[in-house]
Amino acid sequence: MPYPARRLRRLRTTGAMRELATEVRLSVKDLVCPVFVREGGGTSGVGSMPGTRVMSEDSVCDEVQEIADLGIPGVMLFGIPSAKDAAGSSAAGGVVQRAISSIREVFGDGMVVMADVCLCQYTDSGHCGIVRDGRIDNDESTRALAAIAASHAEAGVDTVSPSAMMDGQVAAIRAELDERGFRDVSIMSHSAKHRSGMYAPFRDAASCAPSFGDRSTYQVPYSNPREAMQELEEDVAEGVDIVMVKPALAYLDIIHEARRRLGVPVAAYSVSGEYAMVRAAADAGYLDGDAATMEILTSIRRAGAGIIVTYMAKQAAGLLR
Ligand code: PBG
Ligand code: ZN
Repeated sequence: MPYPARRLRRLRTTGAMRELATEVRLSVKDLVCPVFVREGGGTSGVGSMPGTRVMSEDSVCDEVQEIADLGIPGVMLFGIPSAKDAAGSSAAGGVVQRAISSIREVFGDGMVVMADVCLCQYTDSGHCGIVRDGRIDNDESTRALAAIAASHAEAGVDTVSPSAMMDGQVAAIRAELDERGFRDVSIMSHSAKHRSGMYAPFRDAASCAPSFGDRSTYQVPYSNPREAMQELEEDVAEGVDIVMVKPALAYLDIIHEARRRLGVPVAAYSVSGEYAMVRAAADAGYLDGDAATMEILTSIRRAGAGIIVTYMAKQAAGLLR
């Protein structure tokens, strides 16, 4: 039934009608807010991510309280240790584990506590794995990641989120968790984590830039969508609970394909550079930051992500109430 009988503008006539005709709705319950916690020292801002803070250990629960008060159901913890070494040994016991325990103590089951599982903030190389003879040793790294995940489970985490892009990291973590009796701890893997120029502000916040080379021997090239799907399918085969695509905005095709092809929940990580781009443009007066934020997050939802990890979470939650 073509025009003039069909008039699509009929469903756009009033605000109430547009509400009723809305197809995809972003909810605050879809959001997970990243939280940075630093060992020693106080709370500080992040230059390249205005509006984002690195919390001291004593104030991490204040940040989580703010997030909880906004109705956001989950946090993703990133630790910034005071010391680094070749093995990244502070990753398996330190600032993040203490933060997990204190958040669990204060919030009980009222907040989903997720924690990043990686080595890059903790290794002196700044790489996501253990370096042997100038290369990242995959299997030694997955063993280390499994031990870190178990230490998070010990501290009371709900979900571990490996981001190292080592082959077999999900299987190694699942086996370790099960063997140690943590059968109910879930894994949300950074399954298709692309080598991206949009992580720069995060590396600034977490001081985890690689000291040599880059992450191209482990992160997925943005030119290879089939390879990204293989990564996602591999994680499903290894027993992942939630797959994640990262970054989000430049990868909506991958999110959509994952939603279509896989039977597990799909998350998207809208990364630091995505936040910084919108924030910088808004602060310069080039666009309306609130409008851009809602449009971007809804587009990620529309592409098929049921969970969105985003630095825009608090701002969006404020707009959604
Ligand atoms: C490291 C890690 C990175 C991010 C999350 N975990 C950065 C990287 O791979 O260099 C990026 C997050 C962001 O940019 O918001 N494992
Ligand atoms: Zn890493």
